[in-house]
Amino acid sequence: MKFRTVAIAVGAAAGLPAAAGAAELNMICSADVVICEKLVSEFESGHPDVEVNMVRLSSGEAYAKVRAEGRNPQTDLWWGGTGDPQLQAASDGLTAEYKSPMLPELHDWAVEQAETAGYRTVGVYSGALGWGYNRDIFAKKGLKAPACWADLLDPALKGEIQIADPNSSGTAYTALATLVQLMGEDEAFEYLRALGGNVAQYTKSGSAPVKAAARGETGLGIVFMHDAVSQSVEGFPIETVAPCEGTGYEVGSMSIIEGGPNPDEARVFYDWVLTPEVQSLMPEAGSYQIPSNKAAVASEHTPDLSKIKLIDYDFAEYGSADRRKELLARWDAEVGGRTAE
Ligand code: F6P
Repeated sequence: MKFRTVAIAVGAAAGLPAAAGAAELNMICSADVVICEKLVSEFESGHPDVEVNMVRLSSGEAYAKVRAEGRNPQTDLWWGGTGDPQLQAASDGLTAEYKSPMLPELHDWAVEQAETAGYRTVGVYSGALGWGYNRDIFAKKGLKAPACWADLLDPALKGEIQIADPNSSGTAYTALATLVQLMGEDEAFEYLRALGGNVAQYTKSGSAPVKAAARGETGLGIVFMHDAVSQSVEGFPIETVAPCEGTGYEVGSMSIIEGGPNPDEARVFYDWVLTPEVQSLMPEAGSYQIPSNKAAVASEHTPDLSKIKLIDYDFAEYGSADRRKELLARWDAEVGGRTAE
C-alpha cells in the first residue's frame, strides 16, 4: 500500500489521468504515516470506485501546500495534523464550509473547533503535549528524569533533546504556543533560547524526536504524549511525561479544500472517517489520540487528559493567521538554528 499511494501521488502531482471511470480523492494526511495508510486502505476497500491519492506532510508543510495551490487547488481533503494551521487555512478562506451529519456524534471540543472556523474544519482527535525520554540512556548517563518544563534547561541535558521546527511541525507550533500561554511571550522565547542550548536538532516532523529517543539516538523528544506512548507500546524503553507546570493540547483536525476537484468524494470520506467504527481503528495503527466521536473506543494506552494539568489553550488566537505568522517569525529570528553544537 505504501508504494501504491506514493506512486499514485506522484502520478497525480504530474497531472497523469486516473484510470478511466475511476473517481478520485486527493488527500493530504498530517498524522503518522501508518494511520494515514490504514485509513486509505480501509476507505478504498469499502469504496472500490474511489482511488485515493495520499501524501503525508507535517501540519505546517500541509498548510504551505494548500496555500501554494491557492486558486488552483489540487487537494480535496486534509485529514489530521494539529488544528492551528487548519484554523489558519479556514480564516484564509482556503477550506470549505461543511456541516457533516456526524457533528451531533462528536465531543464538544471537536464541534467547538468547527464553530471557531465557521464549519471550515472539524476536530478528529485530541492529545496533550509532553515528552518521552529513554530511561536506559538516562540511567546510563546518570541523568535526572525531567518532570517539569524547567527541568529541560538542566545543563546536564546538553545535546540530549530533540524537538521539531514549528514552521513545518504542528507539534512544535503547539509547544511554542503552549509555552507562550503558560509563561508569557517574552519569557517563553527566553526559555526557548535557553532550551536551544540542550537541543541536538530541530526535526521536520513532530513525532521524529521521540522515535529518535526510542532508537537511542537522543535522550528525550518533546512530542505529543500519545506519540511517546506508541513507542513504549512497541517495546522501546520510553517513559512518557506530562509537564508539572501544565501543558497544552491539540485538536487534530480535518478540512475540505475550497474549490478542490472532487468535493463529493471529499464529503463521503469526511463523513466516513468521523464514524465510531473508523475512529476505533486508530490504535491498530499505533495511534493513541482521543477520538472525537463519543462512541469510538479509545485504547487503554491513550493518555487520560483528565489526569493531566491542561492549560485553557486558546485555539482561536493561536490558530489565527496573524498570531501564527508573528510567532513563527519571532521563532525564526530568535530560536531557529540555536542548538547544543
Ligand atoms: O500522528 C501523530 C501526531 O502527533 C498527531 O497527533 C498530530 O496531529 C501530528 O502528528 C502532528 O504532526 P506534525 O508535528 O509533524 O505536524
